[in-house]
Amino acid sequence: MPLQIVIGAQWGDEGKGRIVDWFAAQADITARFNGGDNAGHTVTVSDRVFKLHLVPSGILHTGSVAVLGSGMVINPQRLLDEIEMLRQAGIAITPERLRISYAAHLITPAHLALDQALEAGRAGDSLGTTGRGIGPAYTDKAARQGLRMGDLLSPDFPERLAGTLEVANRTLKLWGAPVLDPAIVCAAYCAYAEQLKEYIADASAELEQALKTGKTVLAEGAQGTLLDIDQGTYPFVTSSACVAPAALTGLGLGLSAAQGARVTGVVKAFQTRVGSGPFPTEVSGKFADRLRGSGENPWDEYGTTTGRPRRVGWLDGVLLRYAVRVNGLTELAITKLDVLTGLKTIRVCTSYRAGNQPLVELPFGPAYLSQVEPVYEDFPGWQADVSKARRWKQLPSTAKDYLECLRSLAGLPIHLVSVGPEREQLIQL
Ligand code: GDP
Ligand code: IMO
Ligand code: MG
Repeated sequence: MPLQIVIGAQWGDEGKGRIVDWFAAQADITARFNGGDNAGHTVTVSDRVFKLHLVPSGILHTGSVAVLGSGMVINPQRLLDEIEMLRQAGIAITPERLRISYAAHLITPAHLALDQALEAGRAGDSLGTTGRGIGPAYTDKAARQGLRMGDLLSPDFPERLAGTLEVANRTLKLWGAPVLDPAIVCAAYCAYAEQLKEYIADASAELEQALKTGKTVLAEGAQGTLLDIDQGTYPFVTSSACVAPAALTGLGLGLSAAQGARVTGVVKAFQTRVGSGPFPTEVSGKFADRLRGSGENPWDEYGTTTGRPRRVGWLDGVLLRYAVRVNGLTELAITKLDVLTGLKTIRVCTSYRAGNQPLVELPFGPAYLSQVEPVYEDFPGWQADVSKARRWKQLPSTAKDYLECLRSLAGLPIHLVSVGPEREQLIQL
């Protein structure tokens, strides 16, 4: 299988990092194609918990090359911090192992300041962004005024950066937000350029060459289908394309690379979201606290990037079917089955009701979700610990029935079931 794409099928935080880590053991290259350090991908290896924001999760496998693709927006300070964190953990980071597309866009302090000022200006209607400058960086990209990783190598980079900061300062002043000192920012960015220049490459050409010579490329999505700028719950979305087809544009691959591609949708066994926006199956009160966890465990539902408590609810089968369609999924990886252990009843939303009208599909995509009521099917839960199961037959029959329901809702095979955060806590089907 030359190209495999792994994406989040819900609102992010499905456990993509741990699933990519599993597949990366067999891949030559792991490549991120969208987003920036708004992502937080967790991989647990024995007693070490790695939280990766920019570097693809495959980096933990020594034989694998990591690529940051052109669809990304990169904060160089955060990237250098992450490289340092990995080195401290004994992971070798060299220009042979880490390749950064020259066409990925740079996040500057102006983008961070604008993100925060925009959110403050939205007051009660805020989107709940991660505050990492993602929206303003993609705005500059679309406005054709952004700076790219390749620009770091250009002799006129400091003047161009200073120019963008002056433009941003005018906006920040209008909003009464603190302005930036171009001299300080330019000095910092020139230092980043020195540290990163060896990693900057034509990632698109290198990936094409790798596929041509029979290497395997694992494309790692960030965020999730319902946060996609076009296919998600607009405007409560991120600013990048998160769906599987974006792996091609975000890595500079042509359509033929997708032929026969395996497309794995990562699905949490229940539903979560961070930030604002509609969530038909959301639960509240004591039961939400139970699903979220107290925060004592590293896998409890608190944001990997911001630490915010995640909103939680029952799995939404209508949105799952939608994710199958817009991504062209070929298989599912279900995560966090263990978290449901001990519940008496497990609910799955199989359709909606809008007024008196039953709905099995979304009439205008997920942007109009606030107007629907979920219709549930109830399943008996299980009490036995599933976290040690490594084979399908070791799962309680009620857990198998629940998974069978997800398989049938999606109309796709389940390839992996994750029963804990550890690398080995997986059932391969
Ligand atoms: P990502 O953004 O999709 O990579 O997901 P995050 O890393 O933000 O959030 C997923 C969280 O769930 C992390 O803390 C993982 O370690 C944890 N996790 C992943 N799979 C499982 C699982 O099967 N069971 C449990 N208990 N935790 C899991
Ligand atoms: P991973 O890759 C969950 C959410 C934010 C906010 C919205 C817009 O770890 O699954 P942004 O900062 O991107 O402008 O915020 O998107 N969001 C995520 N939610 N997981 C993520 O990434 C997310 N990245 C952004 O909470 O609602
Ligand atoms: Mg995450």
